[in-house]
Amino acid sequence: MKTAVYPGSFDPITLGHLDIIQRSSRIFDKLIIAVVKNHSKKPLFSINERVNMIKKCVTDLPNVKVDHFEGLLVNYASLLGAQVIVKGLRAVSDFEYEFQMALLNRKMQPEIETMFMMTNHKYSYLSSSMVKEIAGLGGCIRDLVPDIILGDIKNKFHEKQGENK
Ligand code: PNS
Repeated sequence: MKTAVYPGSFDPITLGHLDIIQRSSRIFDKLIIAVVKNHSKKPLFSINERVNMIKKCVTDLPNVKVDHFEGLLVNYASLLGAQVIVKGLRAVSDFEYEFQMALLNRKMQPEIETMFMMTNHKYSYLSSSMVKEIAGLGGCIRDLVPDIILGDIKNKFHEKQGENK
């Protein structure tokens, strides 16, 4: 049984992430989407909010599970018995950082492979940060994130506006 982990911040999940999830779920027997809990970037959405938004987007993919983790990714992947870490690559600008992480992860756990999947060209410009910036400034994020989480994102910004009043 081939198990893969797809890690990330998913703050929030975008259509680019969902495309990688759909494509890799067809390659591996089991795909675990692993939302990182403690990260240097301060997330907009809590860990539970991010996990729940992803769960809503993958209900039609029976071999996909959503989880969260803290600490080193390779330790978490080993505990799960995963053989592969899946990463999406959008542009050359992603490459250097991803290459560095893949090599360091292999140094720590040589038996776990990192596999890169090229993004669908439709989403090569897309990032969670841009989604947050556009939504925060009142722009339209339809076609950037799954429709089913549009309401969650809208509510979060309403909540934030309320806090700032
Ligand atoms: O979506 P992101 O923010 O680009 O995801 C980055 C992530 C979560 C994959 C990366 O920060 C990570 O693996 N964090 C876990 C801590 C870890 O293992 N660090 C060592 C990497 S060499």
